[in-house]
Amino acid sequence: MTRPSLPLLVALACCGAGLPLASAPQSAAGAAEYSPAGADTCLMCHSNDAVLGIFRTRHAMPSDPRGPFGHGQLQCESCHGPGGAHAGMQQFDGQMAQVIRFGRERPAPVETRNAACLGCHDADMGFATHGGAHDDNRIACASCHQLHSPTDAVLGRSTQAGKCYECHAQRRSDSLKAYSHPLREGKMSCSGCHAPHGATTEALLVRQTTNDTCYQCHAEKRGPFLWEHAPVAEDCTSCHDPHGSNQPGMLVRRAPLLCQSCHSQSGHPSVAQDAGGLAGNSPYLLAQGCLNCHSQVHGSNHPSGSKLMR
Ligand code: HEC
Ligand code: HEC
Ligand code: HEC
Ligand code: HEC
Ligand code: HEC
Ligand code: HEC
Ligand code: HEC
Ligand code: HEC
Ligand code: HEC
Ligand code: HEC
Repeated sequence: MTRPSLPLLVALACCGAGLPLASAPQSAAGAAEYSPAGADTCLMCHSNDAVLGIFRTRHAMPSDPRGPFGHGQLQCESCHGPGGAHAGMQQFDGQMAQVIRFGRERPAPVETRNAACLGCHDADMGFATHGGAHDDNRIACASCHQLHSPTDAVLGRSTQAGKCYECHAQRRSDSLKAYSHPLREGKMSCSGCHAPHGATTEALLVRQTTNDTCYQCHAEKRGPFLWEHAPVAEDCTSCHDPHGSNQPGMLVRRAPLLCQSCHSQSGHPSVAQDAGGLAGNSPYLLAQGCLNCHSQVHGSNHPSGSKLMR
């Protein structure tokens, strides 16, 4: 956002909040004009609790010169754009002049809304923002962030997922399955694995690969192992669904079936999987099945652990 230069700065005491006020810049081009007394003007008509909530957020820190309410800044209008005509209730084509609206009703185009934020936040966003799945799909900053609320749900570890579920409903039902990451308990959030602003991976992961993402918290699974199990080093999600599953350990399938999805049907491993009646009695398939013997499924450091049995 290119901000107009401020020809004069007047410090006024604001509306009991004791905020230093920016001036009313006059647009040289005669285009959109800012309101004469900043927030004071706006609050004459908009002083309900929902709006006033912003004064309990970081954005309203008068001591932060970079923030909307810092000295010389445009206050409400640093996000809502020039509101002079709107505050004067000027009519254009029979309609009241508008500011940039972020809510559900008649919102400004996504580009306009996001530009208002990026004018101050471009550098915080990281190079991967542009072209990330959310940017590509024209998701507005304010679809995730709440600016007037003292608590921005998407920034809270226990409240974030609720915001994401508004659009990713399948992830909510995954989280309700019998085994899942402790999202519901508020012990972690989606952003433990995902970078919502964008990332170089398609699935917006916080690290270069799925496995590197998992190793952040499950470092012991990285090895190195004397005897690696190939799919583990390759992709944890060949066996686990990180969003939740109904199998213990968030496995994508029950253990014998899981192993058999890759291991050959010939030889001992698959004895009788499909030989009517026998399956229930086979020691290879009982209880934990393969894991009864091949317990070191993530890899082994035992000299004779080549078959992942110790
Ligand atoms: C004289 C009263 C008045 C003043 C002053 C005023 N507004 Fe408004 N504002 C209104 C009215 C009335 C509406 C509803 C009109 C409409 O929906 O088109 C409105 C609507 C809005 C909306 C859209 C609300 C929504 O539900 O989406 C925003 C945002 C807004 N104003 C911001 C501002 C800002 C920022 C200022 C200061 C620059 C300001 N207003 C000054 C009367 C005022
Ligand atoms: C940092 C950016 C920012 C600043 C500063 C800001 N707003 Fe907003 N405003 C938003 C966003 C984003 C929304 C959409 C709802 C939300 O996120 O809470 C919004 C919503 C609104 C609405 C509609 C209310 C609703 O519930 O839909 C009004 C009215 C409004 N703002 C007025 C103001 C006034 C008056 C000020 C100054 C006191 C102000 N805003 C300062 C970003 C801002
Ligand atoms: C005039 C500059 C400015 C504008 C415009 C602005 N911000 Fe900010 N924003 C800031 C500053 C300064 C901070 C505080 C940063 C800090 O404390 O390190 C901040 C903080 C934040 C935070 C972190 C809040 C927290 O509690 O940690 C979020 C999220 C955010 N802004 C989103 C937005 C969005 C979305 C918009 C557009 C609707 C927006 N900002 C518009 C300057 C701005
Ligand atoms: C899909 C949801 C989503 C969208 C869209 C989104 N954010 Fe965020 N934002 C988040 C989450 C989640 C965090 C917290 C990140 C974390 O915990 O690591 C965050 C953090 C922030 C912060 C805090 C500082 C930081 O980087 O940690 C700022 C500032 C911010 N966002 C600004 C923006 C702006 C500006 C836009 C639009 C260009 C935007 N966000 C779009 C979800 C989103
Ligand atoms: C306003 C709706 C909306 C919100 C809120 C939202 N998303 Fe998204 N998200 C989308 C859309 C649309 C896409 C792209 C289409 C798709 O893949 O579903 C997407 C894509 C993604 C992707 C990549 C999907 C892929 O196919 O590679 C991830 C990961 C993701 N979102 C995570 C999150 C997280 C985490 C949050 C909360 C911090 C969140 N989203 C909040 C709408 C949203
Ligand atoms: C423990 C790590 C982890 C957590 C926590 C997590 N995800 Fe994911 N997510 C992943 C991985 C890894 C992928 C890529 C999966 C794949 O390629 O099969 C992914 C893929 C996605 C996708 C795109 C692919 C798809 O299946 O649609 C979306 C959308 C998504 N996650 C949303 C979320 C949301 C929303 C949350 C929070 C409720 C969340 N994720 C929590 C690891 C995680
Ligand atoms: C931000 C940290 C974090 C990341 C990243 C992470 N996890 Fe976890 N993981 C946890 C926590 C916390 C638990 C629960 C541990 C507990 O309850 O003792 C857990 C548990 C698990 C469990 C065991 C579930 C059970 O029922 O015993 C599996 C399997 C798992 N994670 C797989 C993954 C995979 C695969 C990835 C990468 C896609 C991943 N994790 C990324 C934190 C993380
Ligand atoms: C070949 C299938 C497979 C792959 C690939 C795999 N796991 Fe596992 N994982 C399992 C099985 C089976 C269990 C259940 C073990 C048990 O019940 O003792 C398990 C259990 C876990 C557990 C919970 C118990 C424990 O050992 O801590 C975590 C955490 C875990 N895996 C993380 C990972 C991570 C991280 C990756 C990727 C580096 C990964 N897994 C790759 C099959 C796999
Ligand atoms: C995604 C496919 C995949 C899944 C699922 C899988 N494996 Fe493997 N497994 C492999 C590959 C590939 C190798 C390496 C084969 C080789 O080197 O010849 C391997 C190697 C092994 C070995 C060592 C074989 C040898 O000759 O040294 C054992 C034992 C083993 N897997 C057991 C299991 C068990 C038990 C499970 C179920 C928990 C399982 N595997 C699930 C792909 C898989
Ligand atoms: C009762 C113990 C036991 C069970 C249960 C078991 N295995 Fe094995 N498995 C072994 C032994 C012992 C070897 C080593 C054979 C050798 O060294 O020649 C082996 C070897 C393997 C190998 C290496 C290739 C080969 O044939 O030598 C694979 C792969 C394998 N098992 C997969 C599985 C799978 C998949 C399951 C579950 C369907 C399973 N095993 C269940 C004991 C078991």
